[in-house]
Amino acid sequence: MVARLGAAAALLLIVVSGARAENLDAGKSGARLFADSCASCHRSARGLAKGRFRLTLYLFLQQHYTSSSDAASALSTYLQSVDTPAGAPARKTSARRSLSRGETRPPRPPLPVRGH
Ligand code: HEC
Repeated sequence: MVARLGAAAALLLIVVSGARAENLDAGKSGARLFADSCASCHRSARGLAKGRFRLTLYLFLQQHYTSSSDAASALSTYLQSVDTPAGAPARKTSARRSLSRGETRPPRPPLPVRGH
C-alpha cells in the first residue's frame, strides 16, 4: 500500500516536472531569462550588447544560446535596454589625474624678453 502510494507520487512528480519543462522559457521576461540561464557565466547583463544592432544580437543569441526565437528576441531586447550607452562619460584617464596632481609646483614665469 505504502509502496504503491510512493510509486504514484513519483509518477505524479515526473508528469508534473515534465509538463513544466515543456514550456520552461515561455512567457519569461528578458531579465528573467538572463537570470536563469546566463547569469551563471555573465555576472551582469550590462555591457554585453556592446552597442550591437538588435538583429545582430538576436542572431548571435539564437545561434549560440537559445533554441527559441522568442527567448532570443526577449533577451536581445533586454541586453540592449541595459547596455551602457555609447555616449557614457569615459572614466578619467590616469594621465589626466596625474596632470592635476602634478600641479603643486607653481607655474614657471615666462622667460624675460631682453630688449635690444
Ligand atoms: C557557460 C557559460 C556561459 C553561459 C551560460 C552564457 N554565456 Fe554568453 N558568453 C560566454 C563566454 C565564455 C563568452 C565569450 C566571452 C568573450 O568573448 O569575451 C560569451 C559571450 C557572450 C556574448 C558576446 C559578448 C561579447 O563581448 O562579444 C553575449 C552577447 C552573450 N555571451 C550573451 C549571453 C546570454 C544572453 C546568455 C544566456 C542565454 C549567455 N550569454 C550565457 C559564456 C556563457
